[in-house]
Amino acid sequence: MADGSSKPNVLICGGVNTYSRALAAFLVPLEGEPLVSHLRIVDKYSVAPATTYLGAEFPKVLAKPEVDYKQANLTVPSIVQSIFNPPEGQGPYDYVFDLTGEVRHDRTEMILINTTCNVARMLGQEAAKRKVKAYVRVTLPFYETTSKGTHDEKDDPKPDGTIGTWWHETLRMLAAIEDLNLVILRVGFVYGPYVEFGDITSAITVGSVYGYLKKPMKSVWSPGKNPTNTLHVEDLAGAAWASATWMASLGRKEADSLAGESIIFHNEKSKVSHVEGMPPHDSKLVAPLFNLVDDSNSTLLSVGQTVTSFFGTTFDFFNLGERTMYKFMDDAVEDINEHHVGGWTQMIQNSNPPIPNTPLSAYMDKYALEKHIVALSNTKIKEVIGYKLKRPQFNHDGIKDIVDKWKEEGSWPIL
Ligand SMILES: *[C@@H]1O[C@H](CO)[C@@H](O)[C@H](O)[C@H]1NC(C)=O
Ligand SMILES: *[C@@H]1O[C@H](CO)[C@@H](O)[C@H](O)[C@H]1NC(C)=O
Repeated sequence: MADGSSKPNVLICGGVNTYSRALAAFLVPLEGEPLVSHLRIVDKYSVAPATTYLGAEFPKVLAKPEVDYKQANLTVPSIVQSIFNPPEGQGPYDYVFDLTGEVRHDRTEMILINTTCNVARMLGQEAAKRKVKAYVRVTLPFYETTSKGTHDEKDDPKPDGTIGTWWHETLRMLAAIEDLNLVILRVGFVYGPYVEFGDITSAITVGSVYGYLKKPMKSVWSPGKNPTNTLHVEDLAGAAWASATWMASLGRKEADSLAGESIIFHNEKSKVSHVEGMPPHDSKLVAPLFNLVDDSNSTLLSVGQTVTSFFGTTFDFFNLGERTMYKFMDDAVEDINEHHVGGWTQMIQNSNPPIPNTPLSAYMDKYALEKHIVALSNTKIKEVIGYKLKRPQFNHDGIKDIVDKWKEEGSWPIL
């Protein structure tokens, strides 16, 4: 800690398959001064050779002298403890960014408990023991909010399905760790360069197919508000950093009094006795919680229109008769995919230069085709933490930047 001692040491756990790569690139940019003295990233994936998509930028971040990558199984308690031991010559970790959690919708409750709740709970407990100054948990939009209401942090959105239930339970488990300097960021639908995960990425890929086929892209859902609030991954990174520095100056008690929200029970009472570390249903749990979305007020319609107009086509809705036909979701999934998976394959095959492999797919699974309503107000994080969005609008510039970067690394067809 001879030089750079005023900069924190940072640990990022999980999320290499989602947003950790962008966060790492924000903390240790390829050009310019790093924000940290030392950064360790821990996830289950191997990075050399890569066992998951990394994008063109991340391997360069990993090559920086400040950065250390550890492939580790965070479901094992002794491993969770060991990752908090910094390398020789480094001080303890000041900030932890927790991006762990299972993001696949087809996972069982048992897997979700083991890989989402337990991992975060063990990380939180160890972070509290080590007195880390800030522990930022990123929670994904596995909620169904109402179309009405203020959409602020006092609203009580319903966790969406099994995945939502256990991601939400994870927040209760973390909130219950009294000495943990916890900040929860509840994000919208995240998109951005090298983010191959998620609904917005799907919409961009599928939109390009309809542009290529010169056909309108149609939604199975009737026209309506259907908010699907968005967030650029750079703002996820920027706000996570801002939240950590905010928390580090306050500590949990003060932060609770400024920004604490009740983390309300949304599970079956009978689970409490079966699931290790699950707080009783009537525990009053409070933790600093912030919604994090951009200013676009994105909806299914606005995202659809922005994406399709970028690719030179239009966004449309199936008529009532067609929608009735798609009442049986399982058939609809295959039917709808038939329309654009073939188109994407054609685009890949016709690319010059050729695309030997791409992390992108035009296949939309059942979850991607289901209706999601996520409307969140971002006022609180702006007012309490003073965070300023860098990418407030979901627009053509954002999509162009993403597609250009994919073209450059050979993940996107050049026709
Ligand atoms: C991680 O550890 C758990 C518990 O020992 C084990 O069941 C699981 O298979 C391991 N996962 C990997 C990817 O090695
Ligand atoms: C979950 O963890 C428990 C306890 O460690 C173990 O017995 C069980 O096999 C695990 N289940 C899955 C699906 O990973």
